[in-house]
Amino acid sequence: MSTPNFFSTQNSVQAAADVREAAMKNPGFGSVFSSNMASARYTAADGWHDGKIVPYAPLTIPPSALVFHYAQEIFEGLKVYSREDGGISLFRPDANARRFVKSAERLAMAPLPEEVFLESVEKLALIDKDWIPKERGSSLYLRPVMFASQSVLGVKPSTEYSYYVLACPVGNYFKDGDSGISLWVSENYSRAGIGGTGEAKCGGNYAASLAAQAEAQRQGCDQVVFLDSREKTWVEELGGMNIFFVFKDGSIQTPPLGGTILPGVTRDSVLKLAAKLGIEAREELYSIEQWEADAKSGKLVEAFACGTAAVITSIRHVKRANSEFTIGSGKAGDTTLKLKNALLDIQSGKAEDPFGWVKRLA
Ligand SMILES: Cc1ncc(COP(=O)(O)O)c(C=O)c1O
Repeated sequence: MSTPNFFSTQNSVQAAADVREAAMKNPGFGSVFSSNMASARYTAADGWHDGKIVPYAPLTIPPSALVFHYAQEIFEGLKVYSREDGGISLFRPDANARRFVKSAERLAMAPLPEEVFLESVEKLALIDKDWIPKERGSSLYLRPVMFASQSVLGVKPSTEYSYYVLACPVGNYFKDGDSGISLWVSENYSRAGIGGTGEAKCGGNYAASLAAQAEAQRQGCDQVVFLDSREKTWVEELGGMNIFFVFKDGSIQTPPLGGTILPGVTRDSVLKLAAKLGIEAREELYSIEQWEADAKSGKLVEAFACGTAAVITSIRHVKRANSEFTIGSGKAGDTTLKLKNALLDIQSGKAEDPFGWVKRLA
């Protein structure tokens, strides 16, 4: 444990086994919550304090809280895995803790010390370990969230913040994840601009993506893919996932992080895993025109989206305002599956972890 003292656990509860088992039967994604949550508060006078693990329950927040007006809010997403040997582990929680600090700084919020973040996720995972599903591809998704709780109107940074961590048992993010997803290329909407908040994990970015996602669904596509906001040329990322392209020569490519893309933990892991597996990986701009031309000529053979929630999900079809194209055979390709399995094997403890990514809790 990182800091065994910040979060008290004496008020935590345990659900009856039959209640828990019924809730976990078909959890889907993000609608079933475990027995407890972590919570902590910040005030300018006292700093971070009042850390505790308490029963999951509604909050009482005044409508005047700054978050409701000016959207000072950030969050994270990471998973607790059941290991093949019966233990449990987290995957690169330190990377989420660091990103949470960076997001807080961008939103002018009080950063939560990394060791407090780590203790909150570790303690909640251990207390609610019975909520971790065992099937491969399933996990306990942890959602740390922090928001401005000061009761006052006026555009300025809050002097008070609330922090919570929720836990949801989850299966596949996409109902039919193995058959690949279709993307709609958004030309009307941008997700992020230069100097904006694209690289922070703040709720506002997601609110801004919803109209584009609704457009994607009207077009019969699963997800939206965003282009850069200035030239509407360069592929950036999906609403909640990074993107990779796989070429016939076996190499892979992903757009570089330039401030408008979320620096995904999975993206970084794929780049490092590729190097280990002898797959050439580049961080380079890729235009939507080139993507379409390469998919049609056969130079590009696979593409996949990646993120904590969706793991690695192949992209089978891309639709634009005036054209569309299928990628490879329209099925998950060899490189996508190789990377996905290598990642899942490390996360579940089936394979060695040469990177020191896995944080074993039990
Ligand atoms: C916009 C966006 N991009 C990329 C990702 C992937 O990030 P990670 O791999 O850290 O989950 C996410 C998921 O959190 C996201 O919301």
